[in-house]
Amino acid sequence: MNRSLKKKIVILSGAGISAESGLKTFRDSDGLWEGYSIYDVATPEAWQRNPELVQDFYNMRRKAVLEAKPNEAHLSLVKLEDKYSVTIVTQNVDDLHERAGSSHVLHLHGIITKSQSSLNPRLTYEISGWELKMGERCERGSQLRPHVVWFGEPVPMIEIAAEVCASADILIIVGTSLQVYPAAGLVQYTSSGAEKIIIDPNAHELNTAGVRVIPEKATVGVPELVGELLVR
Ligand code: OAD
Repeated sequence: MNRSLKKKIVILSGAGISAESGLKTFRDSDGLWEGYSIYDVATPEAWQRNPELVQDFYNMRRKAVLEAKPNEAHLSLVKLEDKYSVTIVTQNVDDLHERAGSSHVLHLHGIITKSQSSLNPRLTYEISGWELKMGERCERGSQLRPHVVWFGEPVPMIEIAAEVCASADILIIVGTSLQVYPAAGLVQYTSSGAEKIIIDPNAHELNTAGVRVIPEKATVGVPELVGELLVR
């Protein structure tokens, strides 16, 4: 069936969907923000102060991403495309949705496998391997930095993401603490008639009025929900 005639499912994913692929979340105990300060590694000021430290932090993250594989949650979401028009709006900077085979993935916070010019964020490049080095420059001579959105920077994809969420018949939220804006505010753009489902083992800690909660890990909750949606 033509994509435009199918019911629309939007997945809003966060670090929790990649946790069982071995990538750390940010705010769980032992999460990345327990070991690092956001202000030291994920702000434009950090880059001004100590670009080597920032580069090293993201080089380590990139290495972990390249070593990780999509898990059952990423893989089962692909199956939804047989019956639904599916768009994934992810806060994750890994490429596991793409490697699983999802066709429409929008990265709100950038993607770690790419670099960008430190002067012009529109100049982006694929990184070969895990390491982006100081001294590697864009075509106009500026130092390359990771293609990720830092705290305090604009989120260029947010308007498109809001439109995507507004068009959803079903919104599935997986593995995000919904603590970081503007991403967390996307839920408000879905229509009041849209079905909303959260999959997160700690979902009881989230503000979930009017939302169906599946308090499971992604590799359990997502395949189960996908199975249900495919036989509706
Ligand atoms: P968080 O670390 O804030 O939240 C991870 C969520 O995943 C929590 O709600 C956990 O309960 C849940 N979780 C943990 N293990 C899970 C599993 N196996 N299956 C399903 N859920 C699980 O991560 P995000 O919400 O993605 O931004 O963080 C949002 C943004 O904050 C990130 O994109 C990043 C970060 O700072 C930037 O760097 C700009």
